[in-house]
Amino acid sequence: MATRPAISFAKYSSPKKGVVVLLAADEGKLGKVAAAYDEAKTFARVFKIADFSGKAGSSVDIVAPQGSALDRLFVVGVGKPAALKEYDWLKLGGSIAAQVRKAAEVAVVLDLPGTSVGATEAAGVASGILLRAYAFDKYKTKKDDADAKGGDEGAPAKAAKAPAAKSTERKPSKFVIQCADPAAAKRAFAAAEAIADGVMLARDLVNEPANKLGPVEFAAVAKDLTKLGVTVEVLTEKEMTKLGMGALLGVAQGSPRGARLAVMQWNGGKAKDKPVAFIGKGVTFDTGGNSMKPASGMEEMKGDMGGAAAVTGLMHALAARKAKANVVGIIGLVENAVDGNAQRPGDIVTSMSGQTIEILNTDAEGRLVLADALWYCNQRFEPKFMINLATLTGAIMVALGQSHAGLFSNNDELAGRLTEAGLATQEKLWRMPMGPEYDKLIDSKNADMKNIGGRYGGSITAAQFLQRFVKDTPWAHLDIAGTAMGSPSSEISQSWASGFGVRLLDRLVKDHYEG
Ligand code: BES
Ligand code: MN
Ligand code: ZN
Repeated sequence: MATRPAISFAKYSSPKKGVVVLLAADEGKLGKVAAAYDEAKTFARVFKIADFSGKAGSSVDIVAPQGSALDRLFVVGVGKPAALKEYDWLKLGGSIAAQVRKAAEVAVVLDLPGTSVGATEAAGVASGILLRAYAFDKYKTKKDDADAKGGDEGAPAKAAKAPAAKSTERKPSKFVIQCADPAAAKRAFAAAEAIADGVMLARDLVNEPANKLGPVEFAAVAKDLTKLGVTVEVLTEKEMTKLGMGALLGVAQGSPRGARLAVMQWNGGKAKDKPVAFIGKGVTFDTGGNSMKPASGMEEMKGDMGGAAAVTGLMHALAARKAKANVVGIIGLVENAVDGNAQRPGDIVTSMSGQTIEILNTDAEGRLVLADALWYCNQRFEPKFMINLATLTGAIMVALGQSHAGLFSNNDELAGRLTEAGLATQEKLWRMPMGPEYDKLIDSKNADMKNIGGRYGGSITAAQFLQRFVKDTPWAHLDIAGTAMGSPSSEISQSWASGFGVRLLDRLVKDHYEG
């Protein structure tokens, strides 16, 4: 990962040198602290010339006037302070990190007219800075500047793309965030940083190429969570064969790299409390198998473990912030490859549930992995709910584009809670329909079901398939094919892999399943 900026919190004070970030509200209004800066005397003129009115998302970069001890002042507009929501503070941090790219050390003065900036908000700014500064550059032997490249860190290189401009720009290595109660901000940041680290872990896993990260290597990353107090078991093919996981193992059988099922448990709640469970699709590379994908764009299938990455990142976040909840995370790790032993169209496999599946397309493999992972989870843990995440279908992008993930659920309360958490974190979900008309589309002549539906409603028939493995347990399926990777960059992500799902599900747990 790129150099991680050091973040600290301090009382208001005027730095004697370097770069200072000040905030301005609507109409260019400053708070008391900002207005007391000597340089602020020149702002009325500067704002006018720069046509800066303090609108949210706008900013002015001011070279400090002669006589000033400072180098630069960045004034960032926030609009109406009262209208700022939780996610706006992250965005603010992100845009600050982007603006001050050239500085080594930056003082961020969180001060606004008529209101004091609280600890949670200050922590939000700090995590926005961290998330924006993330870059997947571990394989670059010469470092470029992430933002200068136009931002798709980690994306598989496209042949047609112009070479990245080399840059010697220094990214800030240190941010000192000034606010009313720095001690409280530091405490709030402990939790916010745990979450940001979970997001960045998920991004790292998705960005990592498949030659470096197969099922075995991924399982080792999950196992590493032990050091945060997570209990981690890793099942091998042998154990999965004993359990009868024919659906998952059928996908893995064309790859020499084996299969793993990692079971992570964080027990921060009351001993008797049933756990909540998150299950992730972890196809470390999806060639499509014998129903092979076309060459163009296939490199993106290194990210077909985005669901498993989100679950792993979430477990990291919950454990690192010591969430008061009992949580199970299960990830099914396989590579969907082709060799002489690979699964064929027409094959019939028996899942752990006993239900048989006719494989009509070996590229519809994610649902096969999840079928056994969901069944295992339900049998062993009898969880309060199961939420699975998967880069499951290209069809979800056709339906929803890339700014909402698809939400499928058998439970209105759970779906409602997820939708709300999505709005709060801006990891947005859109509920899709399910029902018997769709379910019958996966009935098969030769087995209990087939692994594809017809031409239409591909994301829905995939969800119906999963539902056949959850019984009556409250369940939701998030199809994150459009949001986990290759989604548009944002104020807080310039990375090809977004880490989608970690902030969303951490929020769900925090709001409804802790304490
Ligand atoms: N991993 C893909 C889905 C995907 C596509 C994720 C593009 C991210 C970007 C999945 O395994 C798949 O191949 N799905 C098929 C299903 C079809 C064969 C029924 C698809 O979407 O085409
Ligand atoms: Mn596939
Ligand atoms: Zn896939």
